[in-house]
Amino acid sequence: MTICRVLRRKRGFPAPLTSRIPQTVSLTEATVMNEAAAKPAKPHLPDAQTVTSVTHWTDRLFSFRVTRPKSLRFRSGEFVMIGLMGDNGKPLLRAYSIASPAWDDELEFYSIKVPDGPLTSKLQHIQVGDEIILRPKPVGTLVHDALLPGKRIWFLSTGTGFAPFASLLREPETYEKYESVIMMHTCREVSELEYGRKLVESLHDDPLIGEMVAGKLKYYPTTTREPSPLMGRITDNLLSGKVFADLGLPPMNVEDDRAMVCGSLAFNHDVKVVLEKFGLHEGANSEPLEYVVEKAFVGDGI
Ligand code: FAD
Ligand code: A2P
Repeated sequence: MTICRVLRRKRGFPAPLTSRIPQTVSLTEATVMNEAAAKPAKPHLPDAQTVTSVTHWTDRLFSFRVTRPKSLRFRSGEFVMIGLMGDNGKPLLRAYSIASPAWDDELEFYSIKVPDGPLTSKLQHIQVGDEIILRPKPVGTLVHDALLPGKRIWFLSTGTGFAPFASLLREPETYEKYESVIMMHTCREVSELEYGRKLVESLHDDPLIGEMVAGKLKYYPTTTREPSPLMGRITDNLLSGKVFADLGLPPMNVEDDRAMVCGSLAFNHDVKVVLEKFGLHEGANSEPLEYVVEKAFVGDGI
């Protein structure tokens, strides 16, 4: 049995629908059930999925889980378009990295709350049982197929750019392909690291992923505007060599190191310059090389 099948079974898929239908239903009850099924209480959204949990991490960050369309197949690290119905009656959609791994039976997202943002000013109020729109067409460059084989994989992210790595960190292939997995995540303040910190902690306790992670995963969270054990921008910590010294690793080199990048446009630009200095080249699905980049959002930040 593959590791993914084991994980799916371990986490428990819901029982098939037929086994959940009560076996003894009177005619009256059956009629009521049929009428209820024929007339939904409220109209369904197109490509609707139901919210199963919501967690607010700070006043600017939250995560949520939704049901997964049965037909949706994606590669860990990809993104989809999700949203809500706009006031004009048209879908209001935005790109979102899927934060859960490809084997999970639900989908998880990690989101910013932009105070006046057309989508997130509303999305931040979703509750369990609500519906969101999810277009089942996953795409993206932060996938294992877009990199040449290597010894070490570096996940480099700022802010909500952690989201695709929340997926890849829970993906068994990540640990099968690499000897070391280095997760660098930088935010302005400590509280903004919390979602990532909790997720990384949970990996070590996971009965199945835990064994694969042990000794391989190196987590390097830093802040830039509030004191914390590790400080500084990712670009600075790579260029100064501090992160290599702290983790006991050699400087990046083109033979052994691979990287995936997800952050603001400014971060992505600057970290690319650093990776190129170490001799790495940008790849893509169509031409796998040594690093790949995805935008965490479009714009200058809030
Ligand atoms: P928008 O009008 O879309 O944005 C308003 C402004 O808010 C932007 O100009 C920008 O300055 C700022 N902003 C937008 N998103 C962010 C962010 N994530 N972090 C910091 N500032 C931001 N967002 C997520 O929260 N989680 C994700 O996993 C995610 N994945 C994305 C993947 C891709 C490929 C792209 C292109 C974007 C992704 N985004 C993600 C951004 C997302 O598409 C929306 O921009 C965001 O949800 C805000 O939507 P909005 O309509 O409220 O505001
Ligand atoms: P800094 O506080 O020094 O600007 P933001 O919230 O603006 O998107 O930033 C998230 C994190 O990314 C912050 O810690 C920020 O550091 C860092 N950052 C922003 N721009 C860059 C960049 N061009 N290169 C490296 N790190 C950056």
